[in-house]
Amino acid sequence: MDSTPNFLSSLFRFFLFSLFLAHLQQHVVEGSRVSPIGLGPKMLFVFGDSYADTGNNRKALASSWKLPYGITFPGKPAGRFSDGRVLTDYIAGYLRIKTPIPYRWRKELSGRVKYGMNFAYGGTGVFDTLVAEPNMSSQIDFLQQLLNDSVYSKRALKTSVALVSLAGNDYSNYLATNASVAGFPAFIGSVVNQVKVNLKRIHNSGVRKIAVTALQPLGCLPRSTVLFAFEQCNGTENALVDLHNQLLVEAVKDLNKETNSSSFFVLDVYNAFWSVFNQKEAGQGSVSPTFENPFKPCCVGVSAAFSCASVDENGVKKYTLCSNPKSKFFWDTVHPTQEGWRAVYSTPVLQNSLKLFW
Ligand SMILES: *[C@@H]1O[C@H](CO)[C@@H](O)[C@H](O)[C@H]1NC(C)=O
Ligand SMILES: *[C@@H]1O[C@H](CO)[C@@H](O)[C@H](O)[C@H]1NC(C)=O
Ligand SMILES: *[C@@H]1O[C@H](CO)[C@@H](O)[C@H](O)[C@H]1NC(C)=O
Ligand SMILES: *[C@@H]1O[C@H](CO)[C@@H](O)[C@H](O)[C@H]1NC(C)=O
Ligand SMILES: *[C@@H]1O[C@H](CO)[C@@H](O)[C@H](O)[C@H]1NC(C)=O
Repeated sequence: MDSTPNFLSSLFRFFLFSLFLAHLQQHVVEGSRVSPIGLGPKMLFVFGDSYADTGNNRKALASSWKLPYGITFPGKPAGRFSDGRVLTDYIAGYLRIKTPIPYRWRKELSGRVKYGMNFAYGGTGVFDTLVAEPNMSSQIDFLQQLLNDSVYSKRALKTSVALVSLAGNDYSNYLATNASVAGFPAFIGSVVNQVKVNLKRIHNSGVRKIAVTALQPLGCLPRSTVLFAFEQCNGTENALVDLHNQLLVEAVKDLNKETNSSSFFVLDVYNAFWSVFNQKEAGQGSVSPTFENPFKPCCVGVSAAFSCASVDENGVKKYTLCSNPKSKFFWDTVHPTQEGWRAVYSTPVLQNSLKLFW
């Protein structure tokens, strides 16, 4: 009477074991060029800004801790600058690990430090910006400190990869504090040089592979397209982005040469955004959804004086929300929706570079 369940249960176990073997084999094949063990990276360290932050920014200051942020995932505001998941979550998914915990919550969530850590803070750049949050150099100091405190060992870091997100806060800060457009190209050069210094420090700490995001088309963010009734991008801004991205590719080439390795690569978020924007015109809907007007955000302030999550002194909402965040690429004036990030992550350009380098 118990033979049947036993038989079934061993069959089931065998089935699971086969799945496990298939999974392992796939990894060995895919990972053979990068890791002798073939099991792929086990930890993800994240540096940068709001495109990657999953809850480091301070509750009292950031809109990401207020409604309607987080309504899709995790269902309430939790520090992500989106209605749901952001780039970090999709990259962790690719690596088949849990999303690394935000540095700020490392004590509360200490059981999960084994998946790596997220040091990204919304609003930051490689240089200091208007937000009083740690710049990228300080974020790397935090990792250094954790190594000094033996939370991580240099040896363990060899099984890790890093994602470095740079979405342009240095440039917003420059425009806000210095109107000199003539000085822009030189400033772009100094930003990319600082990125290079930072990438090298992360590499020296022991991290095996490091992806740095290309700058997304800044001129297509709703904060710029609003001046064109959300129909068109600002070409001047996108030309500056091109310069940044060209210099970034050169910097990464130099770093690989200097370290005699292929440790560094550019995650081409720029072309990924464009390929999603262009999908409507190309009439394709297979890889990701088509967004009816990709430049128009879901959550908008009722007037220029307000932004997503604004409320007046009586708690009355000063923003409007689209009926279905899934139908929108952008969530607010700067950040993609979860569906937007999913579409970006699913583009062949991003998938191919992840497969090639990680
Ligand atoms: C980053 O912030 C630290 C601490 O405030 C500061 O000492 C350092 O100069 C900053 N680094 C850059 C590159 O701006
Ligand atoms: C970590 O230790 C090294 C070597 O003792 C030291 O130079 C460095 O300043 C320390 N870094 C931090 C962030 O504590
Ligand atoms: C503003 O731009 C000018 C011209 O490039 C430059 O000399 C100056 O240092 C910049 N100031 C700041 C605060 O970045
Ligand atoms: C495009 O962006 C630049 C730089 O931010 C700005 O000076 C310019 O006014 C913008 N153009 C339009 C038409 O909005
Ligand atoms: C670079 O790495 C290759 C392959 O590991 C090795 O054959 C070569 O000697 C290295 N070159 C230098 C300058 O270290």
